[in-house]
Amino acid sequence: MKVVTVRTKPAYQIKIGANLLEFLPRDITNIVEFGKIALITDTRVEKLLGETLLEILRKARLYAELFSFPEGEGSKNVQTVVDLARRMIRASYDRKDLILALGGGVVGDIAGFLASIYLRGIPFIQVPTTLLAQVDSSIGGKTGVDLPEGKNLLGTFYQPRAVYIDTEVLKTLPQHEIKNGLAEVIKYGCILNRPLFNFLLKRSSSIYQLRSQDFEYMIYHSCLTKAQVVKKDEKEAGLRRVLNFGHTYGHALETISGYTISHGLAVAVGMAIEAKLSELLKINSEPVYEPLVELLSNLGLPYRVNQLGLQFSREELINLMFKDKKVWKGKLTIVLLKKIGEYLFYEDPPQDMLMEALDGCF
Ligand SMILES: NC(=O)c1ccc[n+]([C@@H]2O[C@H](COP(=O)([O-])OP(=O)(O)OC[C@H]3O[C@@H](n4cnc5c(N)ncnc54)[C@H](O)[C@@H]3O)[C@@H](O)[C@H]2O)c1
Ligand SMILES: [Zn+2]
Repeated sequence: MKVVTVRTKPAYQIKIGANLLEFLPRDITNIVEFGKIALITDTRVEKLLGETLLEILRKARLYAELFSFPEGEGSKNVQTVVDLARRMIRASYDRKDLILALGGGVVGDIAGFLASIYLRGIPFIQVPTTLLAQVDSSIGGKTGVDLPEGKNLLGTFYQPRAVYIDTEVLKTLPQHEIKNGLAEVIKYGCILNRPLFNFLLKRSSSIYQLRSQDFEYMIYHSCLTKAQVVKKDEKEAGLRRVLNFGHTYGHALETISGYTISHGLAVAVGMAIEAKLSELLKINSEPVYEPLVELLSNLGLPYRVNQLGLQFSREELINLMFKDKKVWKGKLTIVLLKKIGEYLFYEDPPQDMLMEALDGCF
């Protein structure tokens, strides 16, 4: 088992290993005092893991009940939060009780948001079950739901009391969901963790065999990297923006597709374009585009825009980048690469360069 301490206020630990769920009941009782457990999950994870975890908790003589909602991003709205809250109130959950989130990023974001506002806040523990949730959404304390006007528009910063990552649960995850998470793992490698990048390159031919040891290494390094960033910038004022590498173009591609392509694939292509831009602006001291494209291609991730199968106007895409949350006082700050494992914030890249980088990746 590997442990990452996230030094937010309050601090908490992420525990990573195979078959960790068995060990969870004993460990949580050492971390937090509580009465009952509301096990929040979605309908798909309920079938795959919900009953198993419920059984493990009950065997340890903990009182737990399942509260599930339909799987998918479509459930990430206020209505789901209100429904869950009402069911918990009717089942007499109070401030001494605990919410346990079992599922992907959708479950984590909803359950975390609910925990932060239920009776003005109750303790919350995460058991992320997608690779994306294990390496990204369960770390850092961002919670929230979507509005018809856009994604993640309502939310809070609320840290969990602990995170348990069981690498074995990934065995039932479809390959496209693994790819979705891998894009973020590659991102950590590119911006801050060269050993992680090199590890991925070395193991790329066998990644989809989902060997526990490989995933333990990748998840540990991803959590460590994100935790370091979050510790220095809990509320997203400065450094945390480094996590946007690949996301400036990536978000624009996602938006222009009407969210028909997955986040990870958009970010994969976004990283390739932003690596290309780093070279066009000559801020790199060694090649960054070639090694990144080699890795993306080895892992079966896209690195060219036309691999996404989208029809759009290039001007419209560049305009979208300026409408993003990341634009501050009309200035676009983009994360570029000096080397693999070393980033740079670049303010106001010239429009023609933004276009040239995009054109270079079709
Ligand atoms: N809070 C943050 O910092 C943060 C960061 C990144 C993303 N997010 C959010 O995360 C969400 C995406 O998360 P996601 O990609 O995990 O999506 P998700 O939660 O919808 O999970 C994807 C699918 O996998 C299924 N699933 C989950 N675990 C499984 C398992 N072990 N085996 C088989 N199937 C399983 C789910 O039921 C779902 O159908 C988005 O809403 C995004 O906004 C939040
Ligand atoms: Zn992302």
